[in-house]
This record gives sequence, structure tokens and C-alpha cells, in this order.
Amino acid sequence: MSKSITVQDIQAYKDRGEKFAALTAYDYTSAQILDRAGVPLLLVGDSLGMVVLGHDTTVPVTLDEMIHHTRAVVRGATRSLVVADLPFLSYQISVEQALENAGRMLQQTGCRAVKVEGGREIAATVKRLVQVGVPVLGHIGYTPQSAHVFGRNRVQGRDFDQGLALVRDALALEAAGAFAVVLELVPRQLAGEIAARLRIPVVGIGSGAECDAEIQVFHDVFGLYQDFCPRHAKRFANVAATIDNAVRDYVGEVTTHVFPSEAQAAAMDTDTLVQIRAYLDQDSFQTASPVPIRR
Ligand code: KIV
Repeated sequence: MSKSITVQDIQAYKDRGEKFAALTAYDYTSAQILDRAGVPLLLVGDSLGMVVLGHDTTVPVTLDEMIHHTRAVVRGATRSLVVADLPFLSYQISVEQALENAGRMLQQTGCRAVKVEGGREIAATVKRLVQVGVPVLGHIGYTPQSAHVFGRNRVQGRDFDQGLALVRDALALEAAGAFAVVLELVPRQLAGEIAARLRIPVVGIGSGAECDAEIQVFHDVFGLYQDFCPRHAKRFANVAATIDNAVRDYVGEVTTHVFPSEAQAAAMDTDTLVQIRAYLDQDSFQTASPVPIRR
């Protein structure tokens, strides 16, 4: 029986009143690191469009790109629950389109759940996905696939109407069967209110400490993404600076002939080398060789 974390295990965290940490992952190696560290939920976020592929937003990310990265993460994660984002316009056109693309995601990658952005407008799709056996993580508040609609107004739910709308969206996702909801860039008091009113876990990002769990982007919290560090992220390491120093050391050692040394290469026995040289130096070899010998 597999020891992988299930959506029921994710619910159990909330039932026990135990907060958990989730992170994004986009490749095999980082997934292995996070899985070994015991992170229960890994999200293959379409944020890979920015931090891995260098786009300005998540909008250009395609389903094929998501599948490619999710397959790598699934190979690296033996225990963590791997959830994959369905990218922009791969699930909003119709329920049928969402079923088809979520099906591709699960069947072609081995991930165990998908994430979709949106509240009440997407609830019928969430319900159908769950009915056919696709666990769904919801995502409301600031939804990056709508970055062009939001513009610079990133924090969501500050006024009465917006705040109430977010509570309704969260309740609608829970009623539709989502196993958890990501709440991005929502004022912390409202996030606490939503977490208290939902039975399912509320996973915050930039939404304060009262959520049931926290999710962050790998490249933000480990200091790999240098374009900017969002206010909601904290750098727990500066891996880019470590790599910078290591690159300088590497280039220095290669150009000064320190690396590679004998320790990093295989050797052959001297007799064999002598034999090869003697063979190569024969006149018959040199006249047969189409390439001029460099000495
Ligand atoms: O794409 C992503 O990384 C996300 C998280 C920020 C929740 O949606």
C-alpha cells in the first residue's frame, strides 16, 4: 500500500488543528528535496511561467508545459501529494474541456489533484471534476491568471462587497467538493474568518497567519528568483547568491587549471598509452588518416 499523502490526510491536518506548509515545485530535483523534508503538498504551480520560463505572468503557460513539469515532479515525490495547476483557459471554456484536460493531467503525469482558479463561476466545473474522481484545490482572492484584469490592485476583499463575495466563493468551492482552497492576497482578518467558517483547509499565500496552511513559491522563499521578491514572501535562503559564488569559483578553477584535477578523471595504464602512441606514430596510420595530425 502506497504511503503517499492523500487528500484525506490533508483534511486530517485541519481536523487535528495542525497547520501545514506547502510549496511549489517544478522539477525532479526540487521535488525530491521537498519530499524528503516531509512537505505534505507540492503544487506544480503555473507560476513556473514566471520563475522557470521567464514570462511576466502565468497567462502564456500551456497545458503541455504543465504536464511536462508535473511529470518531473511526480518522479521526484514519493510521499508528498502532488497537485498541478490547470493553466489559463484550459478549464474555463466548458465543463467538458475541464474534464478532458484534468483527465490528461492525471493520466499523463500521475499527479493526484488539480488546482483551478475562481469561485462561484467555476463551482459547477469543480463539482463535476470531483464527481468523476478528480480532487480539486480551489484558488480565490488574487488569481494570477487574471493578472491583466487586476492590474496593480493585487490585494482582494478589502471592502464589504468584495469581502463578502470572497466568503461566498470559498463556501461555494467547499460545497462543490474542493478538498482545500488557496486564498491569495486577502486581508488577514478576512482570511481568518474564511478559515474559521470552512470545514476544508484554507491554504494562505499573502493572507496572514490564521489560515490552516501556508503555500509559497519555491524560488521566492529560497532566493532563486531575482526579478523581485513579493511582499508576502520571506527569504529563508539566498540560493542565487550561493550559486553566484560557486560559479565564480568554478570559472576561476577551470581557467587556472585547478579543476578538473586527476581526482575527477579516469586513468589508463601507461603501457596501453605507449602502445597507442606507437601505433598512431606509424607512417601507415598517418597517411591513412584524413585529418592532419596536430602536435
Ligand atoms: O502558481 C502558483 O504557484 C500558485 C501559488 C502561488 C498558490 O498558484
